[in-house]
Amino acid sequence: MSVLSGKKILLGISGGIAAYKTPIIVRLLKSQGAEVKIVMTPAAKDFVTPLTLSTLSNHPVYSTFTEQLHDNPVWNDHVKLGKWADLFLIAPATSNTLSAMVHSKCNNLLIATYLSCNCTVYVAPAMDLDMYEHPANQQNIKELKRIGKKVLSVGEGFLASGLFGKGRMLEPEEIISQITEDLKSVLPLYGKKVLITAGPTFEPIDPVRFIGNYSSGKMGFALAEEACQLGANVTLISGPCVLEASPEINRYNISTAEEMYHLALDHFTESDIVIAAAAVADFKPLYVGDQKIKKESEIQSIQLGKTRDVLYDMGKLKQKQFLVGFALETENETDNAIQKIKSKNLDAIVLNSLNDHGAGFSVDSNKVTYIDKNEIITPFELKSKILVAKDIFSQILSENE
Ligand code: CTP
Repeated sequence: MSVLSGKKILLGISGGIAAYKTPIIVRLLKSQGAEVKIVMTPAAKDFVTPLTLSTLSNHPVYSTFTEQLHDNPVWNDHVKLGKWADLFLIAPATSNTLSAMVHSKCNNLLIATYLSCNCTVYVAPAMDLDMYEHPANQQNIKELKRIGKKVLSVGEGFLASGLFGKGRMLEPEEIISQITEDLKSVLPLYGKKVLITAGPTFEPIDPVRFIGNYSSGKMGFALAEEACQLGANVTLISGPCVLEASPEINRYNISTAEEMYHLALDHFTESDIVIAAAAVADFKPLYVGDQKIKKESEIQSIQLGKTRDVLYDMGKLKQKQFLVGFALETENETDNAIQKIKSKNLDAIVLNSLNDHGAGFSVDSNKVTYIDKNEIITPFELKSKILVAKDIFSQILSENE
């Protein structure tokens, strides 16, 4: 899930040629799950139509202090609009708009809204070469930065004047990516690499049959999404399952325990936090038929051998990593889980018991107990796997403060 998901974003558009790119900004923000409202200066309407913007944002576009409704003038409440926003992006910000922001020249609805809002403000300047370099504009940019506004850089290239140089508004993709990075930079797992294994493994018997288990992958995927929300760079190694992961997650699909082993070990060294949530098969058929086994063959048994224990070998390699395993137990749960912390050199284990109604494979909920390596036991209530993932990461974060 994107860090922009669920955010209320106000886009302020001022009257520069780069305004023609703002519908793309709206689309990108919406595609990441943000709600977008727009305030534009009257001059901006010469470059992009309110109809385009209202259609894409699904909200009316505001550009004047009042408007006619059923023969009566109504006030476009800039205070309410400013307070609505979690984030205000002014793009493009022309020389005029930058100056008005610095000197509180409240002569349009955009500036009135800017002066009324308390949220984080991002500014994407757009000017021609010499205008951008002019000391007056550079001074305004400096002043906006001094008072805590986030002024983005400008692009370099051909400008509307035909000159070549610095001053273009950043491309919409770059604006969104810089804002996303900035929002992430204050998150607790920013700059950390998190590796998660999830789902079942399928161990082939022949080209059409396998030994598998009922794991849906839901717990591992919920952990990957939560790590992403906390700002981490997430790698998810998933066994066969139908779930989708957010595009920011580096997902690898594998089928067998052997494939999971190699990928996980490849990513282990560079990881900071590793959670093994996969239900890896403990056994695999020793001989895999290269053709479908026919019923006439009257096969009596399938000879099994052990798979490699991914978590055990990660525990042997462990240095800086905070390593968390899962334990699925049906008897002597706590003792068995503590034993696994020791035998696999873990920092913590998440115990889930199949004895708890509503917990375990396939269902959307889980009831877990978090046990750290000092054997401090923290039980949690039955809740959705999304909330369980939050509990697990809050435990991990509290142990890594
Ligand atoms: N695990 C693993 N590779 C395996 C088997 C298990 O990485 N081949 C990991 C699981 O992802 C989980 C932990 O080890 O994090 C414990 O898995 P579990 O099935 O509860 O225990 P096992 O070690 O397989 O032992 P047993 O089945 O005997 O309880």
